[in-house]
Amino acid sequence: MVYKIVKYGDPVLEEVCESVTVSEFGTPALKQLVADMFETMYAAKGVGLAAPQIGIKKRLTVIDPSAGDEKNERIVLINPEILHKEGKLNEEEGCLSIPGFREPVQRARVTRVKAQDENGEWFELTGEDLLSRAIQHENDHLDGVLFIHRLSPLKRDMIRRKIRKLQKAGEWD
Ligand code: NI
Repeated sequence: MVYKIVKYGDPVLEEVCESVTVSEFGTPALKQLVADMFETMYAAKGVGLAAPQIGIKKRLTVIDPSAGDEKNERIVLINPEILHKEGKLNEEEGCLSIPGFREPVQRARVTRVKAQDENGEWFELTGEDLLSRAIQHENDHLDGVLFIHRLSPLKRDMIRRKIRKLQKAGEWD
């Protein structure tokens, strides 16, 4: 099932999400949610999606740096914890919840993360470049942090003003 992606302005995007609990791991409901998140992300042509973006306040994200090209690289991060960050990366970033806006964001070039899979098994993963950026961007979502929060106040206010105009015109829902 393809969910509607929540847009900036909805408070759920700026709240801290709750951990996925022991009783949820391995359940058909959790597996279905993960499958639906991939389906929603691919439909929107994104490389990452966090549960709050479909209105679910859980620490769960899906990532596929190939964006669904033939060789899928499906990564599921549940209750992720960033262990280590290294280097610098400053590239344009967007977000499915803030469509139409892209800005350079300062990130670490390498990120090591620890997370649980759908069955609750812990694993570690190291991402470089695009994957590193996606891990940091999606992990931010779980703490209610959006890429525009990482821009200068001037840039951020400019984007907020433009979004307010789109909201007034009924072009942002
Ligand atoms: Ni995003």
